[in-house]
Amino acid sequence: MSEKERMERILVTSALPYANGPVHVGHAIGAYLPADVYTRYHRMKGSDVIYICGTDEHGTPITVTAEQEGISPKDVVDKYHRIIRDAFKKLGISFDNFSRTTNELHYKNAQDFFLRILERGYVYKKKVKRPYCENCKRFLPDRFVKGICPYCNARDQRGDQCEACGKQLEPHELRDSYCIICKKKPVEKETKHWFFKLSEFSSRLRDWISKNKHWPENARNFALGWISEGLEDRAITRDLDWGVPVPLDNAKGKVLYVWFDAPIGYISSTQEWAIGQKRPDLWKKYWKDKCKIVHFIGKDNIPFHAIIWPAMLMAHQGYNLPWQISSNEYLNLEGKKMSTSRGWVLWLHDFLEEFEPDLLRYYLLSINPEKHDADFSLREFQHKINNELIATYGNFVNRTLTFISRNDSIVPEIGEFDELDDEMLEFIRKSPERVGKRIERFKFLDSLKELMRTAKFGNEYFQKKEPWKKENSTTLYLCANLTRTLAILSVPFLPFTAERIWKMLNLRDSVFEQEWNSASELAIKEGHKIGKIELLFRKIDNAQIERFREKVRIKLDEKNER
Ligand code: 2FM
Ligand code: ZN
Repeated sequence: MSEKERMERILVTSALPYANGPVHVGHAIGAYLPADVYTRYHRMKGSDVIYICGTDEHGTPITVTAEQEGISPKDVVDKYHRIIRDAFKKLGISFDNFSRTTNELHYKNAQDFFLRILERGYVYKKKVKRPYCENCKRFLPDRFVKGICPYCNARDQRGDQCEACGKQLEPHELRDSYCIICKKKPVEKETKHWFFKLSEFSSRLRDWISKNKHWPENARNFALGWISEGLEDRAITRDLDWGVPVPLDNAKGKVLYVWFDAPIGYISSTQEWAIGQKRPDLWKKYWKDKCKIVHFIGKDNIPFHAIIWPAMLMAHQGYNLPWQISSNEYLNLEGKKMSTSRGWVLWLHDFLEEFEPDLLRYYLLSINPEKHDADFSLREFQHKINNELIATYGNFVNRTLTFISRNDSIVPEIGEFDELDDEMLEFIRKSPERVGKRIERFKFLDSLKELMRTAKFGNEYFQKKEPWKKENSTTLYLCANLTRTLAILSVPFLPFTAERIWKMLNLRDSVFEQEWNSASELAIKEGHKIGKIELLFRKIDNAQIERFREKVRIKLDEKNER
């Protein structure tokens, strides 16, 4: 087998964010930062990996925002596509392609997908009754209607999904429903829709999911639980004028349901990427040949990615099924659930106007809600940056580089190794594997801890060696090499910092071009001259936090004030 054939092929996707508003810090850690860590790592491992995303620009989330802002849906998606794309770029999310579901290519894909599963007998037309607002003179799909969840009795739930219990809903299932525009009670009116035969996939899905032992428990349990409750056929069309038109003559005024077209957006975005590479067929390697498709999503998206999307793919039979579904729990803000409608939210672009992206990356990854909900607090952010990132990581790098700069910026000669030096050497050798295998297993919290353990080890070594008391060239030589190791291993987590360290070390090319395993080498030789050094991070003081809090109007709740 050639080296190229042995390389793993991986397609990474992050949930396509709705272009109906900016993204907040909870989104960032929910489905984007972990995916970025995973992708950056695999790029350095030499995997054949691409990272695909884009904005989800259809459905009632968009039309509701358009009504509320008094602009057209097209204006809404143009505005937010830009804001979302720019915020992710600033955070260093390294998509290979960031597309939009309003692209022509995607319309064709979604329509072809629909026609193919229709031809294969998995879609049928049915007369149904749906909520209709006589005051607004229109049907009320999904988010245009609210009411009581029939499963958990939570009030004011949207017609597509209950936020309290996570159940998928159809608008007509809500009790005591009302139109969100005029608040009047809708009537039931007859219409026709096209349904996907989800019920036919129960046993195939169960077999497939049971075999997917590598899935995390949350996705597996949810999916198997839902199958045993019984899967029902689902309407995949809506009475709306914003969306991908249903490609049939007798379907005037109907569009595809946004959750039908959105995941197909993963394929469309891959195709757009291939066109950009001037090799239009390249996308097939990922969707048709052997490839691991990894979906990163927030937990509310599990039903679609673990059940509905795989069933759609099974019905189509032309594309690969997902290999992994990695989903995070929620991020609260200062002890309370984030809510865009109540304004309790911290926008990503606001945060990045004030703080360096790597500081946010570090903080979010250090509280990554992998298994449980986590809480974002500005005080904790300040504390972790000052007392972990700066005190350990920054301190080690600054000490090492400052000491070398006092030696005419030359990495000194090596002397005899003592026991501590051998330990250091061993540490350098083992660290790429220690950090890497945790990323491969989707243990992002642990992998960051391992990275920090590397910096901590360096600090302790430096402290024990006391190079300020007696000249010790081996110490600086090894510390220079550990700094290089740290730079390489930091790429997935702190890419901007990694590149800055690389430049200060005056090493060739870019840190992003290095092979992951080369972090285990003693590649900096005696006599190497380092570059101009500068302070890696600046401490965050109380005044800056308070100023920022004032700016974004987050007040400390009681829990955090204590
Ligand atoms: O929940 C959301 O934000 C959806 N827009 C996610 C879509 S993911 C995918 F299927 F496109
Ligand atoms: Zn109404």
